[in-house]
Amino acid sequence: MITEKVKELLTEIDQSEVTTEEALETFRLRFISKKGVVADLFGSLKEAAPEDRRALGQTLNELKNRVQERFDKFSMKLEEGSSNDTESSVDLTLPVVPNQTGSLHPLTIVRRRIIEIFERMGFNVADGPEIETDWYNFGALNFPDNHPAREMQDTFFIEKGAGDVKDDVLLRTHTSNVQVRLMEHKKPPIRSIMPGRVFRNEAISARAHCIFHQVEGLYVDTDVSFKDLKDTLFHFAKEMFSKDSQIRLRPSYFPFTEPSAEIDVSCFICKGAGCNVCKYSGWVEIAGSGMVDPNVLSNCGIDPEEYTGFAFGMGIERIAMLRYGIKDLRFFTENDVRFLGQFKGA
Ligand code: PHE
Repeated sequence: MITEKVKELLTEIDQSEVTTEEALETFRLRFISKKGVVADLFGSLKEAAPEDRRALGQTLNELKNRVQERFDKFSMKLEEGSSNDTESSVDLTLPVVPNQTGSLHPLTIVRRRIIEIFERMGFNVADGPEIETDWYNFGALNFPDNHPAREMQDTFFIEKGAGDVKDDVLLRTHTSNVQVRLMEHKKPPIRSIMPGRVFRNEAISARAHCIFHQVEGLYVDTDVSFKDLKDTLFHFAKEMFSKDSQIRLRPSYFPFTEPSAEIDVSCFICKGAGCNVCKYSGWVEIAGSGMVDPNVLSNCGIDPEEYTGFAFGMGIERIAMLRYGIKDLRFFTENDVRFLGQFKGA
């Protein structure tokens, strides 16, 4: 009896196909659970003749193992199937997504380079406020009240001072305010550069912007000469642009320097042959400079009889435009990644 039943069950087990969780559970209930057919058969062992029990027990154990084997195989297949579903969303054969690193802004690159060059010459970096009083932006720098020189820089005024013009509050038009603050607080020798944002009330165009960046330099000590100014900027031009750069100084005017000079560098694009960057002159202007006016020194509490100094100021945008051949100032503030992405690794 039992042997026949076992045979039947074996065929049934071998023929059964399980492809769903529900079918697996039905299989388990029918064959494996304590109330299933196999357990039943074990129960009926008691009724078998004692001399047959051993052999029957063995047959039943084989059946039980067979059942377990099939069950394990079915459940493994089901598991594989379900994990395949989730794996199919990750295709390992697809090309790797390139690592999206950002890039430094060209103005940051140029500012850092300028700082590096001057730091090597012994300059340190000084900082100052962007919102200033008239005194620090103009007055102390030898711009007389109502003097037309103030018109050189169109100013954003924030607040009229209570009485004196020197208390008017404005957005600094140049980083020269930091010169004044440095000289007020420090005894010479002073050898600093001052990078920072400046503001001018100008219509935005390819060549002008209401916000831009400058680096100003100041060196005050006993016996600082015009030659020191020239040598410093000559060295800067060679480091910044090209080893064979030349510089030329053109007489100019700033209220806070006397004498004053505009610094030109030989065009490193056409090497003097003439191109549209240098407007066929062979030279491009990079900085304003001069010897600190004695009035400025005494305004800041430094004795002009004992000390002399030079100062210079340059626009970071201008240097970046020259260095990278950028034709429009507006690129710097538009945040267009097609523009910014070109400075990767620069
Ligand atoms: N502050 C001047 C400007 O913004 C530049 C300058 C600085 C010129 C120092 C001479 C000396 O135009």
